[in-house]
Amino acid sequence: MHLLGISGSLRKEATNTKLIHEAARLFEASEFTAADIRFPLYDGDLEEAEGIPAAVKALTDQINSADAVVISTPEYNKAPSGALKNALDWISRSDMKSLQDKPMAIMSATAGRAGGERAQFALRLMLMPFAPKLLQSPEVLVAQSSKQFDDNGRLTDDAYIDFLGKLMGNLKALV
Ligand SMILES: Cc1cc2nc3c(=O)[nH]c(=O)nc-3n(C[C@H](O)[C@H](O)[C@H](O)COP(=O)(O)O)c2cc1C
Repeated sequence: MHLLGISGSLRKEATNTKLIHEAARLFEASEFTAADIRFPLYDGDLEEAEGIPAAVKALTDQINSADAVVISTPEYNKAPSGALKNALDWISRSDMKSLQDKPMAIMSATAGRAGGERAQFALRLMLMPFAPKLLQSPEVLVAQSSKQFDDNGRLTDDAYIDFLGKLMGNLKALV
């Protein structure tokens, strides 16, 4: 099964990116694509002048060919990252139906102790217009995320591995 992962953090060492890779391992994806969301800021004038950027079209193609999608968001001031919101806005302009009925799981990894609970809830609302088949549970909220991965990018805490494994099992069952 083909899994697409979208990390809302652009940092090279982003724990959210590590988390989508860990999700792919637990999903036992035969094919995994990590999305690149370094898009220009959405601007209606840019869209009118140049159309949908090739990188955005590439992502909507990847979504269309994926069996399932996982999104991991950091929490910036209690909300998902601007980069992730910008990507969702571009996706809606490129192919609004690409996420419709798509099996999807969301998660978050943050420095704070709540693991991005509020950002993840806000992401859930942000996804409503896209109408994916969005799993409700278990919630994967990785707190103090810089301490949760080893040098190989693997989660070290058994509880997080268990929650993520259950979430990926639920996602597989949705496909
Ligand atoms: C602008 C900004 C705002 C942040 N606000 C929060 C916050 O509200 N809650 C929180 O837990 N961490 C917050 N943090 C810390 C992030 O959770 C932390 O940078 C986290 O590692 C981001 O995920 P990453 O490792 O994938 O980049 C903030 C960081 C930045 C840069």
